[in-house]
Amino acid sequence: MNSYFFIRPFVHWLPPERAHALALWALKHSLMPTARIPENPMLSQKIFGLEFAHPVGLAAGFDKNAEAIAPLHRQGFSFVETGTVTPLPQEGNPQPRMFRLRKDAAVINRLGFNNAGMQPFVAALAAREDSGIVGANIGKNKQAEDTIRDYVSGFESVYPHADYVTINISSPNTQGLRTMQKREQLTQLLATLMAAKATLVETHRKVVPVLLKIAPDLDDADLQDVAEVALAQKIDGLIVSNTTIKRPRTLTSGWHGEQGGLSGAPLFALSTEVLARTYKLTQGAIPLIGVGGIGSAEDAYKKIRAGASLVQIYTAIVYQGFGVVREIVTGLPALLARDGFSHISEAIGADHKL
Ligand SMILES: Cc1cc2nc3c(=O)[nH]c(=O)nc-3n(C[C@H](O)[C@H](O)[C@H](O)COP(=O)(O)O)c2cc1C
Repeated sequence: MNSYFFIRPFVHWLPPERAHALALWALKHSLMPTARIPENPMLSQKIFGLEFAHPVGLAAGFDKNAEAIAPLHRQGFSFVETGTVTPLPQEGNPQPRMFRLRKDAAVINRLGFNNAGMQPFVAALAAREDSGIVGANIGKNKQAEDTIRDYVSGFESVYPHADYVTINISSPNTQGLRTMQKREQLTQLLATLMAAKATLVETHRKVVPVLLKIAPDLDDADLQDVAEVALAQKIDGLIVSNTTIKRPRTLTSGWHGEQGGLSGAPLFALSTEVLARTYKLTQGAIPLIGVGGIGSAEDAYKKIRAGASLVQIYTAIVYQGFGVVREIVTGLPALLARDGFSHISEAIGADHKL
């Protein structure tokens, strides 16, 4: 039994942002038990030149200021994506701005990149002592005059300290951000970043993979553009997906009319479909990270079969606690074996090879 279920009534009695702050505080003060996750060679893979013990990571947005990297690794994640961080600190949107849709196992948030800015973020990354994989997810300030300059500045700041960098152009809560997914804007952004990368590789003598995180709301033509531009600009991977601004008709909770990005169970079908389309469009040429509504080993396995090399979770933690990481990781080998796979790599994109 996942012990989180004993404290969940108390956690959910708190407003969502309070509960989140409490979780971060408890992590930082080592008040959470360390997860014991058995190593399984069926699940370990080298992706982007990094060694992942298993495919389950923490999605961006939980540790926006990179405050709890080591404690989060101790919760069992094979990688932790920190951020979204913007060059300057910003408060985000007025509260309340995060809502639990309990009956739907979902969350709506319109936080708007609330974060402490680049300076403490980089200091935290530079000071870290644990050796787990850390991604840095970067965005732009609300008031940025020059969007591309914000991304380049963020990229240069995190580059020396991150194992990978995610370019987030898909959050629905910063006005105009998602238009960066349009072919022309995206080409300009990625070409500029990849030119900056060439210099950073020389300066820091390390090659850091660059990933792009996309929205689940792209239509077919836009998704095709994103895939083509990502391949042309030699982006290392895609994260599919961020939250959706759509509201599936199945939602029954009272908060479903709130503005913002929807995550959790009702996002699963949409984000998995976009993942599958992305896999087809990129023909498996670059690794994909599947995110959106994963709450069980079966869900994670479906993302892998749809084309994900790795997966990430966020909202499931709200409803199931960190115990869900262990449940997913320990459940995957049996699902692979059931379908005759001896290693996770054989299952990636398997749905397209039927
Ligand atoms: C409260 C909250 C804050 C988030 N903040 C960010 C963020 O700062 N940057 C980002 O790229 N994604 C952010 N996300 C999106 C998640 O990383 C993830 O893509 C999305 O929630 C779908 O996964 P899930 O259904 O497992 O939660 C946030 C999600 C939530 C629920």
